[in-house]
Amino acid sequence: MATSAFPPFRVLLSRDQILRRIHELARAITEAMRGEPPCLVVVIEGARTFARQLQKVLPGQLPLHEVRASSYGSGTVSSGEVRLTLGQDVPCAGRDVVLLEDIVDTGRTIAALQRHFAQKGARSCRVATLLSKPSRRVVDVALDFVGFEIPDEFVLGCGMDLDGRYREIPDVVVYEKSVEMAFQRAAAAR
Ligand code: IMP
Repeated sequence: MATSAFPPFRVLLSRDQILRRIHELARAITEAMRGEPPCLVVVIEGARTFARQLQKVLPGQLPLHEVRASSYGSGTVSSGEVRLTLGQDVPCAGRDVVLLEDIVDTGRTIAALQRHFAQKGARSCRVATLLSKPSRRVVDVALDFVGFEIPDEFVLGCGMDLDGRYREIPDVVVYEKSVEMAFQRAAAAR
């Protein structure tokens, strides 16, 4: 019997559901831009998959610019300070930026990026995110295009990872340590 490469985590959103929703988001973004091509900025690494899927269905094969934002803090606790480590040279002055994010959690990353692009002279800075966890919000950010609102659970797949693992899972799944450990035990016994 073929064995799966990934633990059988619970599927929250299937690949088909995600792709259908991405088509809807592309239509909404196109309408909002009224013919003016936006400057698409991908928050890497996690949003790469979402961004590529969106790029395929948006008209005009728009280039994807990349930014990397990191939170600094002690241990697992974020200080709330977000530092931009890539993306200083995105050609955004006078343009309508659309930030492409995998998931908005506290909202700190998106708020920091919006401040950054406003300072760099962007005409506007909208946000398109595949997922949003509204119950986790600390900073009040306006999200223009939201794929799905989800509960406060740690999710993986569709580009989202845990220490670099599970990005390739095509669905959005809910991480559970016990499921992962059972899978690892079974793999070790084979
Ligand atoms: P925020 O600044 O708290 O909104 O953090 C957003 C970032 O946290 C996302 O771009 C992800 O990298 C990460 N993140 C938050 N929740 C999750 C999750 O459930 N799975 C994977 N990454 C997450």
